[in-house]
Amino acid sequence: MAKVYVFDHPLIQHKLTYIRETKTGTKEFRELVDEVATLMAFEITRDLPLEEIEIETPVCTTKSQVLSGKKLGIIPILRAGIGMVDGILKLIPAAKVGHIGLYRDPKTLKPVEYYVKLPSDVEEREFIVVDPMLATGGSAVEAINSLKNRGGKNIKFMCLIAAPEGVEALKEAHPDVDIYIAALDEKLNEKGYIVPGLGDAGDRLFGTK
Ligand code: URA
Repeated sequence: MAKVYVFDHPLIQHKLTYIRETKTGTKEFRELVDEVATLMAFEITRDLPLEEIEIETPVCTTKSQVLSGKKLGIIPILRAGIGMVDGILKLIPAAKVGHIGLYRDPKTLKPVEYYVKLPSDVEEREFIVVDPMLATGGSAVEAINSLKNRGGKNIKFMCLIAAPEGVEALKEAHPDVDIYIAALDEKLNEKGYIVPGLGDAGDRLFGTK
């Protein structure tokens, strides 16, 4: 069963408060999302495997630990997911970045894939799929379907704010995918926005309306 981690670190919660505020402008919003993504990446990489190597310090020869070459991939769901990529790359700069674009079919209201570009060695990588908002869960479920259909196996999902409805939908569709959240909010409203949320993450990141 999928595990759900809600990061209650004070720095994450502090920055999230300003991300939520309507009066926070595009520049500051973008910077804060970037910073929170870095802090979340620090937590999400806690279980990366290490190996021991021998090194020379100015004093002696010693054994010390380095990351044991795990191949990582970050997959932002277009377009708002892009806002979290650079923050993660600050900590894991060697990660490859794939993209998954989905639009909502106006008739069925279901997400439909329109763009997928992934690293060539999908089967060997561990992936973090990112989207700032986990609302109904439709996009996250479909993006992870796309990734799995192309061979992705080892997948985590990371978002800033989730609604309980989205968490349940994602857990049910992908019980093998652990979910990492900065805040679990109250509910979805009738327009599909997370309450209290932060509004439209894509519009706030890119200054569109
Ligand atoms: N997508 C957003 O950007 N915001 C929400 O509240 C829900 C989905």
